[in-house]
Amino acid sequence: MRLLVLNGPSLNLVGEREPSVYGRETWSEIEDRLRLRAAHLGVELVFAQENGEGGLIDVLQRERRDVQGVILNPGAYTHYSYALRDAIAAVSLPVIEVHLSLPEAREPFRHRSVVASVCIGRIAGFGALSYDLALEAFVRRAAGPAEDGDTPR
Ligand code: DQA
Repeated sequence: MRLLVLNGPSLNLVGEREPSVYGRETWSEIEDRLRLRAAHLGVELVFAQENGEGGLIDVLQRERRDVQGVILNPGAYTHYSYALRDAIAAVSLPVIEVHLSLPEAREPFRHRSVVASVCIGRIAGFGALSYDLALEAFVRRAAGPAEDGDTPR
């Protein structure tokens, strides 16, 4: 399985950007850890980050036939980008929305996600671990539902 990990504006600055909200781990440290974890799970990750709305949409369109799913942190676009929302619907790929912080526990303008309705799920509030959990979700989803009585996978 090949997955796209796509980050929106200012997520390249994680580690130095508001560390009390987003943590001290830099994006390159997070990326290295995710790559290792993915390799262990037999998953190939493609990473991209764009500050602009159009750039994010371009990456989704470009990768749409080469990946089986997307782990997407749209940053502030989460809250108002109908263009991004429509692009997700257009590519018909399974997308998991992730956030480092828990937007609902923050300012009111962060409480609404306009992309959630076109995503298969959403993981927020676990810091960089949100990305690991999304990766795990894709892997377990691909393995199919656990049978009754099975050891949880
Ligand atoms: C964020 C939450 C958004 O509200 C914010 O605009 C971001 C980061 C997060 O990962 O917690 O840029 O998506």
